[in-house]
Amino acid sequence: MSPSPLIVRTVPTLRRAVDNLRKRKATIALVPTMGALHDGHVSLVRLAKRRASRVVVSIFVNPTQFAPTEDFGAYPRTWKADIAKLAAEDVDVVWHPDVKAMYPDGFATRIVPDGPALAGLEDRFRPHFFGGVATVVGKLFTQCRADFAIFGEKDFQQLRVVTQMARDLDLGVKVVGSRTVRERDGLAMSSRNVYLSPEERQTATVLYRAMKASARRIKAGDAIAPAMAGGAEMIKAAGFVLDYFEVRHAETLAEITSRKDGPLRILVAAKLGNTRLIDNIAV
Ligand code: PAF
Repeated sequence: MSPSPLIVRTVPTLRRAVDNLRKRKATIALVPTMGALHDGHVSLVRLAKRRASRVVVSIFVNPTQFAPTEDFGAYPRTWKADIAKLAAEDVDVVWHPDVKAMYPDGFATRIVPDGPALAGLEDRFRPHFFGGVATVVGKLFTQCRADFAIFGEKDFQQLRVVTQMARDLDLGVKVVGSRTVRERDGLAMSSRNVYLSPEERQTATVLYRAMKASARRIKAGDAIAPAMAGGAEMIKAAGFVLDYFEVRHAETLAEITSRKDGPLRILVAAKLGNTRLIDNIAV
């Protein structure tokens, strides 16, 4: 049996744990999560282990990135199963603060990201989101003092935002993106997939198929607008309420009009019943 990771719940204990690793000349990779771990997270941990000699996983459901109308209370919390998965992957430290440890009374400082955080994608529908993410991730970076931080490409705009933030604020951590892990039928793994009814779960595969169909058309030389309109139609016809289905520059997230405008990424967000799903692929 793999040894259990060291579980730390306060900033001073985390500091000591990180100091001990540093004294032993360890390199550290951080995997920030909100728990409810699935195979996508496991692949982040495996990439972390390839990058560094020690791995810290944070589990913190961050209230500041949820709007009052969103699913903070209902967000799946699967602590025992999470720890078993992390033990099986030989994770060294689990950083699991409560809300008071992360945001003590009187907390009054926020990071307000610009650039990719204002690309008009997730920010258009969740205006509170990237401020909450940047603030907690900025704290996680300074708390864990990791050499690397691993983020899934599934949250592509988030990956761009934290990459920009680490660079802009000289946080001394290299942000590394990790490929999206998919179910066999193409659905991107997500902690929120548990919200889908069996019928919705079947329908949810349309997102991936629609992105693939549009990407194929763009690569074949079709104009961007009709290629994207075709994919959007597939998604709406399946019963989704579409927030966006867009092709953007893969690094800047800027709008593009031609496939020659750079490396391209198709990004989608859509609601099926009460569940909002996001996904993206490279073109
Ligand atoms: O992607 C997530 O799980 C969260 O947004 C993150 C990066 C852990 C910040 O709370």
